[in-house]
Amino acid sequence: MANIRIENLFKDYKVGIQFVKALQGIDLVIEESAFMSVAGPSGSGKTTLLNIIGCLDKPTSGRVLFGDTDIVPLSDNKLTLFRNHNIGFIFQDFNLIPVLTVYENVEFALAINPFIKEKHSILIDRILEMVGILDLKKRFPSELSGGQKQRVAIARALVKNPSLVLADEPTANLDSENAKNIMEIMRKMNKELHTSFLFSTHDKLVMDYAEKIIYLHDGKIDGSKKA
Ligand SMILES: Nc1ncnc2c1ncn2[C@@H]1O[C@H](COP(=O)(O)OP(=O)(O)OP(=O)(O)O)[C@@H](O)[C@H]1O
Ligand SMILES: [Mg+2]
Repeated sequence: MANIRIENLFKDYKVGIQFVKALQGIDLVIEESAFMSVAGPSGSGKTTLLNIIGCLDKPTSGRVLFGDTDIVPLSDNKLTLFRNHNIGFIFQDFNLIPVLTVYENVEFALAINPFIKEKHSILIDRILEMVGILDLKKRFPSELSGGQKQRVAIARALVKNPSLVLADEPTANLDSENAKNIMEIMRKMNKELHTSFLFSTHDKLVMDYAEKIIYLHDGKIDGSKKA
């Protein structure tokens, strides 16, 4: 996929009779095979930005261009389709389905695609192998550690080979050893599959891994840093 360009992005949330200005004119380019992070204090707009790029929410105004396609005017159905084909999302609290096994959680991400079922097992086993939990595939989320759950979440986000993976505070629930392992896995995916990654984080470790850091403050970009 070509570069992703975000132009003059605004997001207001209505709370009662007041408006919260969550994003106030963001301009940003996510290059092909990027490995970058958004940093900034709590409430600065990181999750809001990731959710809009990830087609989970709509901006108040502005453009989000994937190549030449502006996703902002798309209908909800088209947006969902677009997300399913192009984007993987790793949520802070993993969002695994408790009644499904590791294997089934990853399979669930494929279920909406018109794949042939037999091919699924090859894809799923390969991705579970890549994130190092193939031996745990029959376990349920309640039988896993935090780091292992995070690996399932990564496998689920990557199994469809999306061009962009968004990860909201991917290390927030992990100890430093597991955080490092997870960053190494994502780095490997980035290099081998050329998947672009955009993180949000408070964690210095994630910032050290990132090739570029964008700082947000009060919904505005307050500088950036290249590794
Ligand atoms: N659904 C919502 N309704 C109303 N206000 C919201 C909503 N979601 C976020 N906000 C507000 O928008 C601003 C940006 O929130 P956001 O969640 O994007 O921040 P963040 O940088 O991700 O913070 P954190 O580091 O705590 O996760 C905050 O002032 C927040 O209170
Ligand atoms: Mg957040």
